[in-house]
Amino acid sequence: MSEWNQEDENIKVKMTSAVDEETKEWIKKKSIEFIRLMSYYKCAIMEIETKFNVLNEEYSLEFDRNPISSIKTRLKSLPSIEEKLRRRGLPVSVASMEEHLKDIAGVRVVCSFQADVYSLAEALLSQDDVTLLEKKDYIANPKPNGYRSLHMIVGIPIFLAHEKRMMKVEIQLRTIAMDFWASLEHQLRYKKDNEFTDEMAEELYQCGQLSADLDRRMDRLRKQTSP
Ligand code: GTP
Ligand code: MG
Repeated sequence: MSEWNQEDENIKVKMTSAVDEETKEWIKKKSIEFIRLMSYYKCAIMEIETKFNVLNEEYSLEFDRNPISSIKTRLKSLPSIEEKLRRRGLPVSVASMEEHLKDIAGVRVVCSFQADVYSLAEALLSQDDVTLLEKKDYIANPKPNGYRSLHMIVGIPIFLAHEKRMMKVEIQLRTIAMDFWASLEHQLRYKKDNEFTDEMAEELYQCGQLSADLDRRMDRLRKQTSP
């Protein structure tokens, strides 16, 4: 354990010794509830990730190429969950996060070609345990800053020892070019102590147009070679 963690431990001891037994019990119960819910989201991520891996495997057997370049997953952190609930004026509780937030579990699928984005989305949605709750097609309708991706919120059951539980997962499907643009845009926009000027926004938008053109041209090449 590093010194920093040791310091955290000391703070924890100081804090918990300052509260009464009842409050300690309450904190314990709440944190167990929170950890349990987060583990359900983790299971939902595993379900979705497996579905995409299966589709990738099947596709590569059939057409001799992989439609998926990479899959990234993430669980929203507790500070981000809290910040989002507060920003929206919602209660900060375990029940509230499950009811109101749709992006606690996130799966990002980076595809080779733009056509793969749509065929993978269609194949996933045709599965009878997947329910589409929300869809935003930022490829057909890019954001004003040039952001492109296909976003879906889906409902997926997870099977526990004694119950079946429906969970929400946010899925982002994008091409390598879209992912490249989005990653760099994010880095540039959130760089500390740096002003993000209108000129920079315009330049980024133009880069987005270039990446969209690249995707179109790559898709044309793909059509000439294989399905
Ligand atoms: P949030 O409150 O941010 O979740 O907004 P929303 O519910 O309207 O979701 P939206 O579908 O617009 O975007 C959700 C996620 O997509 C974000 O958390 C990012 O991961 C990604 N995203 C959306 N817009 C942008 C963008 O302009 N740039 C980058 N780099 N990522 C974006
Ligand atoms: Mg979101």
